[in-house]
Amino acid sequence: MTVPFEVMGGEDGIRALVDRFYDLMDLEAAYAGLRALHPATLEGSRDKLFWYLCGWLGGPNHYIERFGHPRLRARHLPYAIGNAERDQWMACMTRAMHECGIEPALAQALQRAFQGTADWMRNREG
Ligand code: HEM
Repeated sequence: MTVPFEVMGGEDGIRALVDRFYDLMDLEAAYAGLRALHPATLEGSRDKLFWYLCGWLGGPNHYIERFGHPRLRARHLPYAIGNAERDQWMACMTRAMHECGIEPALAQALQRAFQGTADWMRNREG
């Protein structure tokens, strides 16, 4: 079976998605609340999400090799994440997937999987 990592075009395809995601976050007023949670420069965030998604999509485990177990929920605890932040993250990622031309059936499957992770990342009411 072909893993999503390959269907996405390997590292180049995933890097393009992550770059579009953070470019949109930086540029679009609709994601300003999400952007405000992030550091002034997004270079480190780009690398981390890229490394993480490579492994999560069935490719090389770049993130785990560098940082160990992702413990994603714990790593997000310093940031106040409620429904609004989750919805901005999902909207930004959904748009980035669309703009990167990810095949609709794969984009839909990824959207469902991201939604589960994003829901789980919430750490405050509202
Ligand atoms: C639900 C809304 C979310 C918000 C508001 C959010 C916000 C953030 C922020 C502010 C950071 C710190 C950036 C940095 O250290 O440069 C971060 C890190 C990270 N996020 Fe999220 N995130 C969300 C959902 C997700 C999801 C769904 C994933 C994975 C699919 C994800 C993966 C990561 C990874 C891998 C890191 C780096 C963790 C580390 O090594 O410190 N995030 N996120």
